[in-house]
Amino acid sequence: MAIEEAPHHWVRRALFPACAAPCAAQAQTAIGAQDALRPAGIQAGHILQLWHGTVALCLLVFVVVLGACLLALWRAPRGSRQSPADLGTLDDGPGTRERRLLYAVAWGGALSSAGLVILLAGDVLAGRALAQLPVSGALHIELTGHSWWWEAHYRDPVSQRSFATANELHLPVGRAAIITLRSDDVIHSLWVPNLHGKLDLLPGRTTEIRVRADRAGTFRGQCAEFCGLQHTMMALQVVAEAPERYAAWADGQQRPAASPGSGSAAQHGAQVFRNSQCAGCHAIRGVAAGEGVRIGPDLTHLASRQTIAAGMLPNARGHLAGWIVDAPSLKPGVRMPAIALAPGDLQDLLAYLETLH
Ligand code: CUA
Repeated sequence: MAIEEAPHHWVRRALFPACAAPCAAQAQTAIGAQDALRPAGIQAGHILQLWHGTVALCLLVFVVVLGACLLALWRAPRGSRQSPADLGTLDDGPGTRERRLLYAVAWGGALSSAGLVILLAGDVLAGRALAQLPVSGALHIELTGHSWWWEAHYRDPVSQRSFATANELHLPVGRAAIITLRSDDVIHSLWVPNLHGKLDLLPGRTTEIRVRADRAGTFRGQCAEFCGLQHTMMALQVVAEAPERYAAWADGQQRPAASPGSGSAAQHGAQVFRNSQCAGCHAIRGVAAGEGVRIGPDLTHLASRQTIAAGMLPNARGHLAGWIVDAPSLKPGVRMPAIALAPGDLQDLLAYLETLH
């Protein structure tokens, strides 16, 4: 089916008039749209079709039941205190009323069952369609859920072309991605409604989801399984882009971090990074810890990302400074501690982090 943008979908306007404006505003912050009614891939398209069918059928049932209620009220015998209703007028003969009721209940039961069978068939067909995504030449991504951020490893048969990133996936339009899901702690759930349905990330087990973006755009993904204090602040940004743009991005991500100029503030900032608590949890390839550290996000190309703190804040110097100095007050429960740095060291560290494109 064709995938196209429908900015003001009639279903949303009809069913969620009160929510439409604030929801749209909230969902289209720095991290992009999160909208199951605007599919950007064939799988989200199949799910939307199922959703339309379900809504249409439920609406039909609602109208029929409401109509039957109104009809019953209309036909009910009317009476007053002076002249009570004559219930006998409903009967056309002995046993007729019971027979009519029996027919009505039998028809109601049969139609309800038929409706449920139609929904079940639609569900099975949608499930089969979802499973039939062609995956030849697919990207391989390993996504691990942590409380509360996403660790991503792009795997390539050539090991030098593999790389790690966090909280942001890039996908080339038209090419499938096989995403292997794991959890490092509790159950999380990946949900990028513009692309696909939900799938859980389970501790000790591996699951797999296959997705394909069919149009470019930036889409918000969200952890969809309650996983603790900051469950709502566990967002994932998915950037679907033209294959050439994706290739350029991947090429940049594969490189180790650029070395800052000798004697610069950034060079001192790199030193601050190595000598402070930062390097204990974060890797910067070519500078500290390589691929070994998985406590916090890989920062090798931090400056190329649009957000920090799993989609909570825009990636801007002020937010980054606040995050380094006192992450627990911004995101209570987060494992990143407040880092006490001299003002000059903090500025140099920020200058260094801004070079990590
Ligand atoms: Cu992770 Cu909710």
